[in-house]
Amino acid sequence: MKTIALADYNIHVGDFQGPLNLFLEQSAYSQIFIIVDENTREYCYPILLEKTNLENHSLIEIRSGEQHKNIHTCSHIWKKMMDAKADRKVLVINLGGGVIGDMGGFCAATYKRGVDFIQIPTTLLSDVDSSIGSKLGIDFADVKNSIGLFKNPKAVFIDPVFLKTLPLREIRSGLAEIIKHGLIADKKLWDEIKDIDNLQEVDWNSLIIPSLEIKKRVVEIDPYEQNIRKTLNFGHTIGHAIESWALQSTAPLTHGEAIAAGMVCETYLSTEVRNLSDAEAEEVASYILKIYGKYSVKNEYFSDLLRLMKNDKKNANGQINFTMLDCLGSAVIDQHCEEKQVEDSLIYYAKL
Ligand SMILES: NC(=O)c1ccc[n+]([C@@H]2O[C@H](COP(=O)([O-])OP(=O)(O)OC[C@H]3O[C@@H](n4cnc5c(N)ncnc54)[C@H](O)[C@@H]3O)[C@@H](O)[C@H]2O)c1
Ligand SMILES: [Zn+2]
Repeated sequence: MKTIALADYNIHVGDFQGPLNLFLEQSAYSQIFIIVDENTREYCYPILLEKTNLENHSLIEIRSGEQHKNIHTCSHIWKKMMDAKADRKVLVINLGGGVIGDMGGFCAATYKRGVDFIQIPTTLLSDVDSSIGSKLGIDFADVKNSIGLFKNPKAVFIDPVFLKTLPLREIRSGLAEIIKHGLIADKKLWDEIKDIDNLQEVDWNSLIIPSLEIKKRVVEIDPYEQNIRKTLNFGHTIGHAIESWALQSTAPLTHGEAIAAGMVCETYLSTEVRNLSDAEAEEVASYILKIYGKYSVKNEYFSDLLRLMKNDKKNANGQINFTMLDCLGSAVIDQHCEEKQVEDSLIYYAKL
């Protein structure tokens, strides 16, 4: 068990039984609500019940998937709390991936001007990314995460036990964020990752902990993304465009699959704009291709992809904003390049 302490809450990594029971014993909540979806109800809720003394609680079930991360589902959650006469002394437990963490946290943070919540992430992505950094929210008018706020949970309990039932595709999706953390800030972590061949035989704690340490360092220095937090956008400028593009196609990609492709392209850009060596770029590309395969990015997609990149909220003064690498393990923010170089990076990826 490892505890990572942030300014006003702790992240417990490892078996959650001891720390969660202690947390519950030390608090006096009037009611407890557990938010699940159909998958976490089936696979994670029984583990939670088996290990804790949560005799009295209400279960709120929502439908899984990004398409339900919206105001309608929030209404359902708030209504359930209202019907149960939830006062301001209740606790909300978010048991699920990033969708439940973001949306359950948002509902808790706004219900009666805010009640306590804890995060129990159950996907690799939520373990290493969405459970830390205090961003809560929902999608609105087709814009991802457009309504929300920053608010800290009372605690986070990360237990890789939940990953046993997570589909491999979702594991790969979360791994992309760990790869990103290694590439932007921790060469040792990257070296550990690149030796992994079989994703079913990984000691996840040894990757989750350094990954969280990096995100913690970054969000503590720059909670509102004024500067260093932007390093976490590595791979995301081109990756988000690929993700949005794929979403409209018949073969949508997971977030991590798109970000993996984006990281290959932005690693290439780092050789053009910064001093990353070709050998380092090849090392990144060959590992990512081995794990994720290759998404087909045809020349005819380029103009759409560039248009999507130009709409990115991270841009300023009409220029596409990138985070790039100076070497493996070190990132630099607010980088720009010619459109032609962005196209070249897509061609580089397509030709690998
Ligand atoms: N707040 C942040 O800083 C932040 C950062 C990154 C991503 N996000 C958000 O996170 C969301 C994506 O999160 P995600 O990738 O965890 O997706 P998700 O929450 O949709 O979960 C993926 C799928 O896995 C299922 N699942 C969850 N745990 C399981 C388990 N243990 N066993 C079997 N199935 C399980 C879910 O039901 C779902 O079908 C996006 O909405 C994104 O915007 C937020
Ligand atoms: Zn991401």
